[in-house]
Amino acid sequence: MSILISCRALFEWATIVKNPHQLASSGIWGSARAAADWQRVTADRVRFFGPVTERMLDLADIRSGGRVLDVGAGAGDQALGAARRVGPTGVVLATDISASMLETAAAAARR
Ligand SMILES: C[S@@+](CC[C@H](N)C(=O)[O-])C[C@H]1O[C@@H](n2cnc3c(N)ncnc32)[C@H](O)[C@@H]1O
Repeated sequence: MSILISCRALFEWATIVKNPHQLASSGIWGSARAAADWQRVTADRVRFFGPVTERMLDLADIRSGGRVLDVGAGAGDQALGAARRVGPTGVVLATDISASMLETAAAAARR
């Protein structure tokens, strides 16, 4: 199994551990507004980070039939890229502390 963890998710996790009261609101990513803002810049984000994401998936050796866990998946950019690679015989599980971000990822997966 391959496990993807975004650096920002790790940073956010460290922030929450230092301030557990933020957990209730899932930190800065917990609001619907944060998810909407993140979604609004999807095209720019994918254009900017797309090549790096593909390189990361290469290095993680994500291929047909693979099983991938994406921790802190956000809008699902990397999870969707992994899903394209593993294909119908593979599995990608995208997790995130923010329900709003996961809804954004689910919507992107349906498109
Ligand atoms: C900057 S976004 C990055 C999303 C995606 N990995 C990317 O690079 O486009 C960071 C994400 O990590 C999530 N996150 C932060 N702390 C987390 C935790 N402890 N567990 C799961 N997800 C977490 C946030 O909700 C947010 O969606």
